Amino acid sequence: MKPNIEIAENHTKEIARLLSTLLADEYVLYTKTRNAHWNVQGANFIELHKFFESQYDALDIIIDDVAERVRSLGHFALGAMKDFIAVTRLSEHNQDFSDQKHILETLMEDHESLVRSLRKEILAAGDEFRDMGTADFMTGLMEQHEKMAWMLRAHLS
Ligand SMILES: [Fe+2]
Repeated sequence: MKPNIEIAENHTKEIARLLSTLLADEYVLYTKTRNAHWNVQGANFIELHKFFESQYDALDIIIDDVAERVRSLGHFALGAMKDFIAVTRLSEHNQDFSDQKHILETLMEDHESLVRSLRKEILAAGDEFRDMGTADFMTGLMEQHEKMAWMLRAHLS
């Protein structure tokens, strides 16, 4: 049964498409952050090892929330790795994680790219598709990614 929430069916479909791409990006970024947690090395190893853990824990919660938002709108969430890889906008090619500066820069750029995408999609969700709930949800996610990017950037200054 479809939700009766005064958002047109074709609009919830468009929103689900935006959220599915976001979900794939969050999943890839989660995996890259775990990679960082495992493979970072250097004098401040313990600090960075724990720091990356705090970031992938936050991403884990975001992933669940994004998938469940898709379900709230009456659509199915992506749940297979091959689907995440097929639709993500993030890249895994820049993933030599033997150097901590490179790790921090790569993750920071990924968070910033998510912030840029979300900033556009928040407007589409609210203005174009009349889905203020998703616009508000995405605004909260954008703020979280801005903060995570700051935390990464602060290690590089
Ligand atoms: Fe661990």
